[in-house]
Amino acid sequence: MSVKPITVDDFEQYAKCFLKKSVFDYYRSGADDQQTLADNVAAFSRWRLYPRVLRDVSATDLSTTILGQKVSMPICVGATAMQRMAHPDGETATIRACRSVGTGMMLSSWATSTIEEVAEAAPNCLRWMQLYIYKDRNLTKSLVQRAEQYGYKAIFLTVDTPYLGRRLDDVRNKFQLPPHLRMKNFETEDLAFSSKEGYGDNSGLAVYVSQAIDASITWDDIEWLKGLTSLPIVAKGILTADDAREAVKRGVSGILVSNHGARQLDGVPATMDVLPEIVKAVDGKVEVYLDGGVRKGTDVLKALALGAKAVFIGRPVLWGLAYQGEQGVEEVLNILREEFQLAMALIGCCNVKEIDRSYVREDRFHSKI
Ligand SMILES: Cc1cc2nc3c(=O)[nH]c(=O)nc-3n(C[C@H](O)[C@H](O)[C@H](O)COP(=O)(O)O)c2cc1C
Repeated sequence: MSVKPITVDDFEQYAKCFLKKSVFDYYRSGADDQQTLADNVAAFSRWRLYPRVLRDVSATDLSTTILGQKVSMPICVGATAMQRMAHPDGETATIRACRSVGTGMMLSSWATSTIEEVAEAAPNCLRWMQLYIYKDRNLTKSLVQRAEQYGYKAIFLTVDTPYLGRRLDDVRNKFQLPPHLRMKNFETEDLAFSSKEGYGDNSGLAVYVSQAIDASITWDDIEWLKGLTSLPIVAKGILTADDAREAVKRGVSGILVSNHGARQLDGVPATMDVLPEIVKAVDGKVEVYLDGGVRKGTDVLKALALGAKAVFIGRPVLWGLAYQGEQGVEEVLNILREEFQLAMALIGCCNVKEIDRSYVREDRFHSKI
C-alpha cells in the first residue's frame, strides 16, 4: 500500500494484501454465515449522536480507570490468539505499543509469546490475562498463578467457548499454526498446537479445543477460580441480562459484553444491541465493558454513552501488527484515540465522566438494517 493508512479499515486492507491467506482468514473470520460479524459493525450506525454546543472543549481528558488501574483512554487491547502470525514480534510488540499510548493489554491463553516474555517486554504496562479453562485443571491453575506472579492485574475468563465456533474458512484451510510457531505457554506439542497430526479435514484449532478445553465448566467454576487467585475475575462473553446478573451474584468484578468477535455462535446479537439491557441489569454493581466491531472513535463514544466503562479492540490490533509491528499497533491505537477525542469534543464533553445516555438515541431516520 503506497498511501499511508489513516483509518482502521485502511490497515485491514493492507493486512489483506500482505498476510498469507490462511492467516488473514483466521484473523478476519466470523462463524458460519457471519451474520453477527457484519452486525457487530452495523449496530453502531443504529445509534445517532446528539451533540451539545457552545461548551468550552478546549481541554479534554480521555483518561479513565479499569478495576482501579489508570489508562490514558477507554480503549484497550483485547485478547487475540497467535499474534506472531501477523508479525515476528507478536504479543511483545503489542504490549510495547500499549505502553507507549498508556493503555492495557489482555493476553490470550493462546499467545505465541509466554506470559513471562510479555511481562518482561513492558514490566510496568497494565496487563490482564485471558483464560480458557483446560480439562487439565493443574495446567489451568499454573496459567493463573504465572499471570499473578508476573503482575497481570485481572483474569478475563472466557465463558463463550466450550467448543470452537464453526469458522468456515478455517475448516476449508484446515487451519494450523505455521511450523515455526507454537502456543508458547504450553510444554507439550499437543497443547502448544504445534503437532501436525490428528486434525483430519477440520480446522486444526476446532479439534484442539474439543481435545483440550473443558466443555463441562459451569458457574461453580468461577468460585473454583476465585479460590486460586486474589486477582479480580472478569466474565468475558456475556450477552444476556440474566447471565450478567448471575455473574455478579457469583462475585465477578467486571463483565465484558462480547460475542467473541462473532466467532462463536452466529446469529447472536451485536454487542451494542445488548449493552443497554446488560448495563441496566448490572445496575452499577460491577464495571461493564464491550468488544466487537469497534473500528472508529464514534463507536467508542456510543459504547460509553450506553454505559460501557471501556471498549476492547481485537482485529484492529492484528491489522496494525501486520502493517508494522509495534509501530503499526501504536498507529492504530493513536488513530482511535484521536478520533475518539475529536468525537468527544464535538458532542460537547471534556472528559469521559460527562458522557452519558443523553448523547445517543436509536436511529429514528432509517429503517433497521
Ligand atoms: C484472531 C482472533 C483471535 C482471538 N483469540 C481469542 C482468544 O484467544 N481468547 C479470547 O477470549 N478471545 C479471542 N478472540 C476474541 C477477542 O478477544 C474479542 O472478543 C474480539 O476480537 C472483539 O471483536 P473485534 O475483533 O471486532 O474487535 C479472538 C478474536 C480474533 C479476531
